[in-house]
Amino acid sequence: MLKTYSCGELNEKHAGTKVTLAGWVDRRRDHGGLIFINLRDRAGIVQVVFNPEKSHSCHEIASEMRNEYVVSVSGEVAIRPPGTKNSSLPTGDIEVIAESTAIINPSKTPPFYINEDIEVDENLRLKYRYLDLRRTRMKENLLLRHRVTKFIRDFLDAKAFMEIETPILIKSTPEGARDYLVPSRVHPGKFYALPQSPQQLKQLLMVAGIEKYFQIARCFRDEDTRADRQPEFTQLDLEMSFIEEEDILKLMEELFTSMVAAVKPGMRLIKPFPRISYTEAMEHYGSDKPDLRFNLKIGNLSDIAADSDFSIFHSAITNGGQVKGICAPECAAYTRSQLEELNRMAVELGAGGLVTISLGDKTDDLNNLTMEQVKSRAAKYLSLDQVKQIARRLEANMGDLLLIIAGKPEIANTVLGELRQEMGKRLNLADPDLLAFAFIIGFPLLRKNEGSARWESEHHPFTSPRNEDMSLLDAQPEKVRGKHYDMICNGFEIGGGSIRIHNAELQRRIFNLLGYSNTEIYAQFRHMLEAFEYGAPPHGGIALGLDRLVMLLAKADTIREVIAFPKNQSAIDLTLNAPSIVSDEQLAELHLSLKEE
Ligand code: AMO
Repeated sequence: MLKTYSCGELNEKHAGTKVTLAGWVDRRRDHGGLIFINLRDRAGIVQVVFNPEKSHSCHEIASEMRNEYVVSVSGEVAIRPPGTKNSSLPTGDIEVIAESTAIINPSKTPPFYINEDIEVDENLRLKYRYLDLRRTRMKENLLLRHRVTKFIRDFLDAKAFMEIETPILIKSTPEGARDYLVPSRVHPGKFYALPQSPQQLKQLLMVAGIEKYFQIARCFRDEDTRADRQPEFTQLDLEMSFIEEEDILKLMEELFTSMVAAVKPGMRLIKPFPRISYTEAMEHYGSDKPDLRFNLKIGNLSDIAADSDFSIFHSAITNGGQVKGICAPECAAYTRSQLEELNRMAVELGAGGLVTISLGDKTDDLNNLTMEQVKSRAAKYLSLDQVKQIARRLEANMGDLLLIIAGKPEIANTVLGELRQEMGKRLNLADPDLLAFAFIIGFPLLRKNEGSARWESEHHPFTSPRNEDMSLLDAQPEKVRGKHYDMICNGFEIGGGSIRIHNAELQRRIFNLLGYSNTEIYAQFRHMLEAFEYGAPPHGGIALGLDRLVMLLAKADTIREVIAFPKNQSAIDLTLNAPSIVSDEQLAELHLSLKEE
């Protein structure tokens, strides 16, 4: 090794020890006589002192050093003189007195500061990702990710799971997104697809008798990039035989509880993880991935609204709609323009408009509410008693602002769900140290595609219908619930899975229901149906979005912060500059020619 110690591992106990260090110049201060270098390596930073009286040549070399130069230093660890200790640095009690040094490799001036955690244009960071990853925060994120995957591997190994790699060049899998295709050179006109997930392969591993499989699996989906979405991402994928839904949920709760305690002991969980039905999630939070770190539940006001004289409420209810609302605590003093902004947001999200009710002053008592204290365009159509009933239904207090939507149930729910999220953010209601994991269960098996009016799987076509709903499959498919569960945390879907169909006949019936002809089924899924005819065990599993999980643990805003080399928002790898054009020879080999655009 070119070094005997890491910079970050030195402390008082090493005083008097001769050390050789190597790393990057994080910062250089020239105090006329003395030169101080903060030397950085992966483990941290230590101060090195170059004293011309100790070594003139060393001091000369140090005067040439600049930020990000790679240098080596040999010297002795010394306790810093009184008054010069630096409590913000873990090695701040000591320094290394240089006795010999060398510049191993100089550096150009970096395009952004590496030694400061400041905002830098993301595309610049991605272009020079190797410099960005030198920054402390990014290094910590990568280390956290490493600890998470290491924990997962050890945890599952102890439970007799086997890690098995599945291929990347496969056949298209119906996960709902567009596939990335790879043209075959040896089979002209044919294509591999990159896996959207190892779904079918892990099921085939169950037929193979593996019983407990997992993989830290790379998945590819050609969909628009977002804060929590990348074209290429990583799943913790697992599958088990001879289990029921309950077994998977219990395993997940144990995994996440012990993982957070190990890698982020400062963060808290809600235990046991709540289980919320899909219907309840939509009714109360307007989302199938609600942020449960705060309450602000949606309340149904339809019965109270039906008795009022307010025409907006009436017409919604007469047309089969609902009147629902949430309470924004201590927002009664919102100005007209603030209310208009919320109204605009509701309209953009698809609501006809937003009805607000401001409830006077925080210091008063709701029982003593008077109509003079109520500010709302609906006020003159509501009785005092109705306002009080609405306020109580939404668990409001004086000084609160009620946000009410009248309309189709789905619209009222989803718009209020977004407003709930917005108010939670504005009012800082979410505890940043809380990881509110929960399971969403009881999803419908199918949903109608709005364009084609065809049935589509809510999860994927391999999900088993619930036993008790099986009789509805032909006559009322919309009422059938699937054995499908999602795992959510802090407003993100971090995982999804299901108990699978393991019977060829039922699987064929589901494919037929989804509109696949027998020829299509044969062409696309023959391997699955055949496998189910050779003694397929009952099985099920789940896949967790590893990037999303680490993002939440790292308290980062996007998954790009926890991926070493992510694509940017336009799906471009700026470090390598991909995608890029290829030569005519390469195209010809692949039997491809490009169309003029
Ligand atoms: P699903 O499609 O729900 O299930 O994916 C599982 C989890 O993967 C994460 N995820 C993503 N993360 C980043 N970028 C993306 N583009 C992206 N897409 C999905 C999410 C999601 O919850 N085969 C099934 C699992 C199963 O049934 O066992 C599947 O892939 O966190």
